[in-house]
Amino acid sequence: MSLAQYGFQKLVLLNSAGYSRAELPLDDSVSIIAPNNTGKTSLINALQFLLIIDRRLMDFGAHTVDNSRKFYFPDNSAYILLEVLLPTGMAVIGCVGKGLSHDYEYFAYQGSLDVEDYRLDNAKLVTQPKLIDRLLEQGKLAKIYQSSDLRALLYGNRQKQRSDDPDLTIFPLEFTSQASTYQRILTRTLRLDSLDSRQVKEYLLEIYKNELHDRSVNFKEEWDKSFADVNYDKSQYDSVSRNHARIIGMEQQQQDRKTLRGKIILWRPLIEQSLEKWEAYYRQKSQSIEADMVKQKVEWDEVEARQKTIYKDQAQTDFELKQHQTLEKRYEDLTVQFHFVKDIDQLTKQLDAIQAERDALVTRLNNAETQQNPNTIRRNIEKCNKEIILLQQQLASLDNNLYLQLQQTLSSESFDALTRLLAVQVLSLPVVSDGKVQLLNENRLRVFGQDLADCINGSNFDAAGLSIDLSALEPNLQIKTAAELRIEIEESQQQLYYWEELLATLEKLELEKARKAELDNQLKQQREDIKLYEELLTLRTMAAERQQSITDSKNRLQAFKDEEATLSVKRSRIEVDQQHLKDESERLKSRHKRIHIARQQRKDYEAPFNFLEQLPHLLCMDSALLEIDLLADQIEIYNQDCQDLRDLDKTIAEGLIHLHHDGISKFQVQDDQEQELQVLFNYTAQLKQEQAAIERKARSAVVQVAAILRDLRNSLETLKRRMSDFNNKINKRQLSDLKVFKIEPREEEAIVNAIRTLISTSEQVDSGSSFDLFDHNAVLDDKELNKAKDLLIDQGEKLGSLKVEHLFRLVFVIGKQNQSPAEFEDLDSAASNGTVLMAKLITGLAMLNQMQDPRKSIKTACYLDEAASLDQLNQRSLIETAAEFGFSLIFASPEPQITARYCVPIGTSNGKNFISRLNWQIIKPIEEVIP
Ligand SMILES: Nc1ncnc2c1ncn2[C@@H]1O[C@H](COP(=O)(O)OP(=O)(O)OP(=O)(O)O)[C@@H](O)[C@H]1O
Ligand SMILES: [Mg+2]
Repeated sequence: MSLAQYGFQKLVLLNSAGYSRAELPLDDSVSIIAPNNTGKTSLINALQFLLIIDRRLMDFGAHTVDNSRKFYFPDNSAYILLEVLLPTGMAVIGCVGKGLSHDYEYFAYQGSLDVEDYRLDNAKLVTQPKLIDRLLEQGKLAKIYQSSDLRALLYGNRQKQRSDDPDLTIFPLEFTSQASTYQRILTRTLRLDSLDSRQVKEYLLEIYKNELHDRSVNFKEEWDKSFADVNYDKSQYDSVSRNHARIIGMEQQQQDRKTLRGKIILWRPLIEQSLEKWEAYYRQKSQSIEADMVKQKVEWDEVEARQKTIYKDQAQTDFELKQHQTLEKRYEDLTVQFHFVKDIDQLTKQLDAIQAERDALVTRLNNAETQQNPNTIRRNIEKCNKEIILLQQQLASLDNNLYLQLQQTLSSESFDALTRLLAVQVLSLPVVSDGKVQLLNENRLRVFGQDLADCINGSNFDAAGLSIDLSALEPNLQIKTAAELRIEIEESQQQLYYWEELLATLEKLELEKARKAELDNQLKQQREDIKLYEELLTLRTMAAERQQSITDSKNRLQAFKDEEATLSVKRSRIEVDQQHLKDESERLKSRHKRIHIARQQRKDYEAPFNFLEQLPHLLCMDSALLEIDLLADQIEIYNQDCQDLRDLDKTIAEGLIHLHHDGISKFQVQDDQEQELQVLFNYTAQLKQEQAAIERKARSAVVQVAAILRDLRNSLETLKRRMSDFNNKINKRQLSDLKVFKIEPREEEAIVNAIRTLISTSEQVDSGSSFDLFDHNAVLDDKELNKAKDLLIDQGEKLGSLKVEHLFRLVFVIGKQNQSPAEFEDLDSAASNGTVLMAKLITGLAMLNQMQDPRKSIKTACYLDEAASLDQLNQRSLIETAAEFGFSLIFASPEPQITARYCVPIGTSNGKNFISRLNWQIIKPIEEVIP
């Protein structure tokens, strides 16, 4: 060993880890010798406090770090000290306990490590509070360091060091950022048995980190990010294409809306002005119509009044005419009636004659009035005639009548009864053979007389159930003589004549009376005729005048009729005028009403009408003149326009909402809806170009994603190359009896192939050769590509992200002599304990070496417990390999390992472990000792 070799010189423990004092050489390989459970491992582990520094990375096996603190720093005079030769000279790095807390602090100084510096004259150790002063006394300028500062110091992180700090870099790493990885591997090399293949992979990746563009790729995120725009643009393109007809419709609506806005902007002030004018116009016009109506009414009333007067006069004239006509008719009738009358005298004389005849008749009648009643006289005449007939009969049957027959045959009593019972005519009847009474049997008549007498009871006659009082009856017939009868007949005839005379007189008197009545009538008639004639005379006198009146009346009536016709015409005209005014008034009112309603219905006071000018619109070029007559129409049209505009606003807004719902959101970033629409219409107009743009974007998205993957793939390739170098490094010397020992990365084929597919697609796309987005072979539709993408997304999600480490797994390729190499995922099962131990140590040391700056070589130490499990050949090989990598190998075993340069047994003194330099046994080859 050359003295000039930089690196660890010795480790010293004072009052620590059960050692009262331990001095261990580290400038070459060492074999620590002690029985089990003495303190070999604890001695080496003490280095962790100085080299690992970070408590989180320390590993004391079954012992916790806290317990270890107690173990290593029981009080404030416990020390762990390392002497190291650096290019800047010898330096000491130390760690001293702080007392009961078992805490510790770091210090360092330039100079060599002299144990005496830490011992007082009383052989006691210097306590921590006095350490710096003590060292200063000894000429050592020591300084206390915070653990992080010490770490910066040891791992050469100049940026974290103070400028006045000495250069105490023990681990000159190529990249100071790898310090913690180095520390971790270093910890492992102190405890090799726990190094496994997972850690090997982890450390290798750490070591080559700077050469790999290894980043954690969230593939899904990257894909989504790169394709977000494309997918979004494509979705927008699809939505717009789907809604093409609707959008074209909306464009027309927008055009209509702009036109309408222009129109409303033009008309709005005109409407305002005209509405103001209208009120005055309406008032003035209403008043004028009202005045005209009043005038018409007056005229109408006049006509009506005149008509009434005409009716009255007409009636009066009509009445008069009729009167005159009646008189005229009377006159004509009377003229006819008295056609043959010459003059009134003629009538007067006729009257006088009738009067005279009547007066004579009245006198005659008065004389006759004392006479009997003619009917009595007639009855008397009849009586006389009967008596005469009876008397003549008696005279004719004077000797042969029934009376006499009965008188001769019957008893006087029976005869008397019969004369009383039988009538004169019966008794007077003659009894002759062919007469009315015939005597058939005289005897029987006598018997009858006898029977009759039996029926007479006093004055009563009782027969046939009857009783007749005969005394009440006169005897009917007294038999007169012929002379008597003749005289009687004559007297009766005279009486009869008298009566007949008297009757004739009386009968004439009746006629006279009738004549008188007739004369009275004639007299009355004549008098009336005279009156009528006088009337005729009067009428005749008035005839001319009357005719004139009739003519006048007729004329007047005609005049009335004519006037009525005129009035009727006038009335009609007034009616027409009135109707006209009424209509005009109605029209005016209805117009006013319409205007009023339309005004009420105006909606242009609210949004959007109050800022319409600020909205896009097309200038309206209408010649806008508003005639007051057309105001109602115009304001209604205007209101309708406003309504239409609102409807359009609504329709367009709904259309837009529909488009939003259907996914068109690209244009929503615009400041307002109008701009959004405009941009949308522009977009729709150039769908073809948009299609091409999306195609370009999709291509570049593929390229972008592939670029990220390309980094991963390249990193994998780099790693594979580095691993090849690494294998060369560890294979410089044969390891144990192994023919082949390699650590090789094996690709995770599914992932790596997927990455390759994506990269090759990107290359194709980049060359612009085969893909056309909207063709069959569109990038977005490519099956292979999508499969690869899905796999990477899937794996990415499973693994959390895609990193180089996911692209491969490590296998240990081990080939024994005369055997074909085999691959092992787990190193522990690959070979025997000793071989595995070697393999692990070499791998670890190679990794540490890999991290060191090859230009600055500072030899440190590594530890192999249970060294006895290796044969001497392998031990030597290992010592040399370690030395090549810059490490002195420390073996620990109960037996001395003579392959090492130093054999250091652990002794005891006062119950404490003890190692003095005096116990060091330096083993040299014989040729070195005996040249
Ligand atoms: N970090 C620690 N904290 C507390 N005690 C410890 C620590 N390390 C070791 N010891 C104790 O120190 C004693 C020695 O143990 P150590 O492992 O050093 O022995 P060894 O010589 O290495 O034994 P072996 O040959 O069996 O490996 C043990 O009693 C152990 O419990
Ligand atoms: Mg041990």
